[in-house]
Formats: sequence, C-alpha cells, structure tokens
Amino acid sequence: MNKKKIQSAFYCQNCGTQSPKWLGKCPQCNEWNTFVEETIKKDNGSTNPLLSNKIKKPTLLEDIDYSQETRILTKDKELNRVLGGGIVPGSLILLGGEPGIGKSTLLLQFALNTNNEKILYVSGEESEKQIKMRAERINAKSKNCYVLTETSTQNIFSQIEKIEPDILIIDSIQTLHTIHIESSPGSVSQIRECTSELIKYAKETGTAVMLIGHINKDGAIAGPKILEHMVDTVLQFEGDRNYMYRILRTVKNRFGSASELGVYEMGRKGLREVNNPSEILISERDENISGVSIATTIEGARPLLIEIQSLVSSAVYGTPQRSATGFDTKRLNMLLAVLEKRCGFRLGAKDVFLNITGGIKIDDTAIDLAVICSILSSDQDTALDTQICFAGEIGLSGEIRAVSHIEKRIAEAEKLGYKKIIISKYNKFNTKNKSLEIIKCGKIEEVFQLLF
Ligand code: TYD
Ligand code: MG
Repeated sequence: MNKKKIQSAFYCQNCGTQSPKWLGKCPQCNEWNTFVEETIKKDNGSTNPLLSNKIKKPTLLEDIDYSQETRILTKDKELNRVLGGGIVPGSLILLGGEPGIGKSTLLLQFALNTNNEKILYVSGEESEKQIKMRAERINAKSKNCYVLTETSTQNIFSQIEKIEPDILIIDSIQTLHTIHIESSPGSVSQIRECTSELIKYAKETGTAVMLIGHINKDGAIAGPKILEHMVDTVLQFEGDRNYMYRILRTVKNRFGSASELGVYEMGRKGLREVNNPSEILISERDENISGVSIATTIEGARPLLIEIQSLVSSAVYGTPQRSATGFDTKRLNMLLAVLEKRCGFRLGAKDVFLNITGGIKIDDTAIDLAVICSILSSDQDTALDTQICFAGEIGLSGEIRAVSHIEKRIAEAEKLGYKKIIISKYNKFNTKNKSLEIIKCGKIEEVFQLLF
C-alpha cells in the first residue's frame, strides 16, 4: 500500500494564496474563480546534482568578501541603466511584458552582444530554428551564446553543469516544469518551485539568471504575484504596439533605484537603444500649433522633455468630456477646477482632451504647469512659443510650487536648445547657465499674462 498520502490544496492563480478548500472569491486579491487544485510537494530532497543540501553556518558580516562582486556590464547602455549599473552575479532578474512586446528579442539581442560572458539561452516557447531566424534578423553574432530548447528544470540543470554559463536566460518561466510538482506548467506551484530551484542555483553558483514572464490582462506578471517577491529585480517592458517605442522600466531592484527607465525603438532589425529620448518624445513641428506645450519631467534619475497636446472644444452634450492619455484623469479634473475657480476660465462647458505624445505615462506632478498652459493655449487658440518649456506643480490655490531636481530639468532643456523655461519662484537652485532664460512665476495668472 502506498503510505505516502498525496496532499493537495487550492491556489489562487492570481496571487498565489493557498486554501485547504475551494473558494469562489480570493480573500487576498478579491479575484473571482481563480482557485485551482494543485498537488503539494512533500519530499524536499532535491534530485538536482547542482544543488547541495549542505547546512550553512553563520558568517561574520565583516569577514564576507565583497570585492569580487563586480557587476557584469552589458553592451546595452539602457539595460545597464535600468539594472542600476549592470548585472549583479547571482541575482535573479524578471522581465515582464505583454505578448509580442519584444521580450525575447531584447534578451536574445543582449545574449548576442556580451563582452565574452558565456550565455545559455533556454527557450520553452520557440524552436532552435526560430531562434536562429530571429538572430539572423537582428544581425548579431556571438561565439558565446548557447541555445537549449527544454522545459524540464532537471534537464536544464544537467546541461548547465556541462556548459557552466555566466548568465542563464529562461524564456519563459511559465513554460518550465519540475518533476517534484504534478500540476501543469504555468500553475502557481510549478512557477513557485521552478523559481526557487533557480534562485538556489543562482545563489550557490553566482550565476545571474534572467527570467521572462508573461503579463496578464491587468498588467501583473501572469499567475502569481509571489514571483515578484522571490526575485531580486523586476523589469517591465511596455509600450503601445502601434508605437515603435518601447520602455523598459524598473519595478523593483534590490541593487539599485526602482524608478529607472530605458527607451528602445523596435525596428526591422531588432531593438535600437534610444539614448536621448527627449528627441523622440517631442514631435517635429514647423508651424506653431495651439494646444502644444513642452514639460520637463524626471524618470528615475533621468530628465526627459515631453510634449503635451490638448484640445478644448465646446461640449456637445450636457456633461463635458474629460479624457487623458498618459496622464491621471483625476489630476486633470483637479487642474481644470483650479483654472475655473482661481482664474475665472469657463471650462465647465468645454470638452477637454489631453495627450502625452510617445505613448508614455507620466505621474510626475512637475508637468502640471505645462498641462495647464497647453489647455489654455488650445482654449485661446493661440500657439505657445516653440522655444519655451515648463517645470512646476500647481497647488489648489493656483500657486506654482517648487519641484525636485530643478537643475537637471534646466540642464536638459538647455541641452535640447530651448530658450526659455518657466519655473516656480519658490525653487532654489544654483546653475550658471548661459543660453537659457529662466522665468520665475508664483501664480498661474502671472504665467497667463506672460504668454497670452
Ligand atoms: P518578441 O520578442 O517575440 O516578443 P515577446 O517575446 O515579448 O512575445 O517580439 C515580437 C514582435 O517584435 C513581433 O511582433 C515582431 C517584432 N519584431 C520586429 O519588429 N523587428 C525585429 O527585428 C524583431 C526580431 C521582432
Ligand atoms: Mg517571446
């Protein structure tokens, strides 16, 4: 008789919550119909020869040698930036993104452009031929990149033993399965177990592991949120599929800032780094168009200049429409209320549409002033000077408030050849600039008088 009783439990496929019985609604993440029965693994004995089961002793923090922990610098400057200055050996990096956004392309391109590091690219999604075709397409060659099409972690580990890569790439974590778990690939317990095997491997051998993870419709890494807790770094690859631009964003980073941003352009020959994104985010315009203004924003440590477009027209229906792309609609409503109340502009009977060009989302409040100026410009049907840009937050009484990193914003505006910048008079800074005129204002009314 089989003495080992097979135990099972129900897991929420969205957040990984475990329950002994089936539930209709997850008490943790409030999702409906997400519980699925999965077998619980009982024996913890690892059959992976690479993973030891040695008992570890405590070490004095002082005695730990840190000097060899140099980061692996990649040839991709944008990737280095979002990783906080290169890849930390022994770390787990998760790259999330919607299907078709370019995750496999990004990592294959990285794998083919290394400085002599040995890479093992494991794919559970594509055949060797398909990967080769992609490599041909992006026109990169490397003598250090191995490809393996395999989905069983045990088989992957036995190949790793032979190749001993410096960096392991897994495309994707949702296709992996381990023999210790009976449920199907992509289920919560499979993902959890495979990831913990990879973590153990990464930490014991000092190999960096990069995982690709799919994203579900809500924008979370598909399946379990637990994956995000387990890894060291979470990167998100986003962008509109209709735009060519792709944004690589740091969501979590144990070894650096969690608000960095990298910009790429998807072309016919793979992804191209965009080292000066301000240029692409601002559209070329020869003639003056009303409703367009330029804002300075900071993403992570990086200053960006973005273009804001708005359209103000008479409302056709009783309730005016307010819609914003790339900007918080609630904040837009607040700014409109401030304009209405403090400055007497009759926007209540007008539809307002706001768009941040380039398909990026901004939640930096320092673009408030530019948003307001763009709305006023459209409302007055008067174009703003193309040589002017803005940096200021708007308070509820219509005052222009100081913003952070003003020196960086000014420097970026100057670099791109702007002649004037309007900022808050409360901003303290010391820059000895030459070609840019800095105009300080305290209230929206002052800006209005200056511009129109
Ligand atoms: P892919 O890396 O397969 O996306 P993911 O792994 O995130 O699902 O990228 C697929 C898309 O990128 C596909 O629509 C084709 C496009 N693409 C290009 O436009 N140019 C290229 O050079 C490559 C390789 C892909
Ligand atoms: Mg892919």
